[in-house]
Amino acid sequence: MELSTNYMGLALRNPLVASPSPLSKTVDGVRQLAEAGVGAVVLYSLFEEQLRREAALDAELADAGAERFSEALSYFPEVAEEEPGPRVYLSLLERAVAAVEVPVIGSLNGVTPGGWVDYARAMQDAGAAAIELNIYYLPGDTHTSGRDVEQRHIDVLTRVKDAVTVPVAVKLAPYFSSTGEMALRLDEAGADGLVLFNRFLQPDIDPDRLTSVPTVELSSSAEARLPRTWIALLRGRVRASLAATTGVEAPADVAKYLLAGADVVMTTSALLRHGPAYAAILLDGLSAWMDRKGFATVDDLRGILSVAPGADEAAYERAGYVSALRDANSGAYGPW
Ligand SMILES: Cc1cc2nc3c(=O)[nH]c(=O)nc-3n(C[C@H](O)[C@H](O)[C@H](O)COP(=O)(O)O)c2cc1C
Repeated sequence: MELSTNYMGLALRNPLVASPSPLSKTVDGVRQLAEAGVGAVVLYSLFEEQLRREAALDAELADAGAERFSEALSYFPEVAEEEPGPRVYLSLLERAVAAVEVPVIGSLNGVTPGGWVDYARAMQDAGAAAIELNIYYLPGDTHTSGRDVEQRHIDVLTRVKDAVTVPVAVKLAPYFSSTGEMALRLDEAGADGLVLFNRFLQPDIDPDRLTSVPTVELSSSAEARLPRTWIALLRGRVRASLAATTGVEAPADVAKYLLAGADVVMTTSALLRHGPAYAAILLDGLSAWMDRKGFATVDDLRGILSVAPGADEAAYERAGYVSALRDANSGAYGPW
């Protein structure tokens, strides 16, 4: 079975990619993922806040002496204090690249086009095969316009593209008024890959303790439907590679994303749930399914269920919605 795949110009042995997670916080973790067979590993993210915090500390040191360090630290969110800093990250990246045969992709998490984006170059110098930009931005300020939010994405991407020669992917959210147009704009601005979609970690509320609770919940297969729909719609309409992320729990989920048109399929929750070795089970299941269906290569099946170029995309979406409701109305759910 031929699983080899091209992702942003990188030759991968197969289309299964370990997406950022605590599993890639150590060289041993990265090695386990590679040994389980993944085609590439994206390291956990280095946060803009960590980089700005380190820069502020350096400036404090130069300007005012060590006694004002704590003041500088207090400007930044707690996450920056909990996470290892950029030097640790770059060292891990360098050692991970040396330890495994598969491409290791660095990940930067930020929302402003500030000086921190130069760290993309440091990642490249440390051996990153590509950079994934996780633009994790929830515009909490209700006066921020949609166009401003979109422009931020373009500005961050442009700055990073200017800093590196390796491919750059953008991991974006699904929450745009016109997600497709945003994808096209990123494509035109030079994104080599689009990673669909970021999964926001929305806080829960504990009604007994009357507090808001920050939680990280692992995904389920049903959550793959939204990214899969957009991958099917974008296949053949952007030059950038398409990476699917969210809701890969079983081999069938990998197959479905490839049929929709994903170049690579990423997984985190399943590997956290079952351990890194589960990647081999996903890959074996994919091969067995391809065998049953008579597909010799991934290229033979990729995108065969995407929305054909030239189709009326809006009508396609509307038709699916209308027919699904019609079926629901005539079936088990009763009249709506
Ligand atoms: C515990 C945890 C940590 C994560 N850390 C990162 C991160 O550092 N950077 C990032 O881009 N995504 C991060 N993600 C998101 C995953 O890479 C992935 O996109 C998301 O979980 C959806 O994929 P899944 O359904 O296979 O879990 C994290 C997810 C989890 C559950």
